[in-house]
Amino acid sequence: MSHVFSDMLSSNILVHRPSNTIPVNLVVDQVSMAEPTIPACLDTRPWTTTSGRCGSMRITVIGRGHVGGGLAKRWTKAGHEVTAVGRDGGDATGSEVVVVAVPGNAVVQGLAAVSGLGGQVTIDATNSFGDRPEGFDSVALQVKSIVGGPTAKAFNTNFASIYDAIDAEPVPPGTLFAAEDEARAVTERLIRDAGFDPIHLGDLTKAPLLESLIALTSTLDRGDLGPFFYRFNRPGEFTTS
Ligand SMILES: NC(=O)c1ccc[n+]([C@@H]2O[C@H](COP(=O)([O-])OP(=O)(O)OC[C@H]3O[C@@H](n4cnc5c(N)ncnc54)[C@H](OP(=O)(O)O)[C@@H]3O)[C@@H](O)[C@H]2O)c1
Repeated sequence: MSHVFSDMLSSNILVHRPSNTIPVNLVVDQVSMAEPTIPACLDTRPWTTTSGRCGSMRITVIGRGHVGGGLAKRWTKAGHEVTAVGRDGGDATGSEVVVVAVPGNAVVQGLAAVSGLGGQVTIDATNSFGDRPEGFDSVALQVKSIVGGPTAKAFNTNFASIYDAIDAEPVPPGTLFAAEDEARAVTERLIRDAGFDPIHLGDLTKAPLLESLIALTSTLDRGDLGPFFYRFNRPGEFTTS
């Protein structure tokens, strides 16, 4: 299942500093904003409890810096069992989810240092400031070629330096993501458990688009705005209170 933003519709984008809202009305491609019809987690996955509610997930985060360490902290607080590893590597055996948060040009090296990778749901959070990896349309596809499981691209458009400000916001900030069908529910859940509102762009063919947004986000960051949160709302959904 792939949600694409083919319809050109008016949409409101909210870009704001933490607790300092600056609405910006733009006309953009309308991202599919339908409420997800999927359950909170996948019934057939091992972390689904018999009550039908999601239990905690075992997550290996590769990269324990600003992004990896920050997400690990937030997911641990949400009840997940998280192991974050650095360039010295580690063992991902038994992990249900793998998250990649190393420099975009260090993916091969970073993953090579980790044993026990093989078919896990994988979320690639990297940005790459140079060329795309040779032979791949995106870093996310390069990651998929190594781990081999259902793969998503998420968190690469969010600033780790303001993770600690998420909980003070009146509404969850947005996270744009792209995911293969089998990775979508888990990715949405982990986006929510990190405190964000998931905004689905489509399948992994949208990963190059997400990766190209580094040009926009870093330009905004270096300008008047600084590190920012964003949301995408339908017309009429912004409130002033
Ligand atoms: N910072 C942000 O706001 C932000 C936002 C979105 C996406 N990103 C992307 O997320 C990724 C991580 O960013 P970050 O800010 O968290 O970086 P960071 O704070 O510098 O942390 C990088 C992590 O990657 C590991 N690492 C570095 N070089 C490596 C190598 N050659 N092989 C294996 N592991 C290596 C480091 O290991 P050690 O712990 O051993 O040093 C560290 O744990 C990058 O792709 C970045 O572009 C960053």
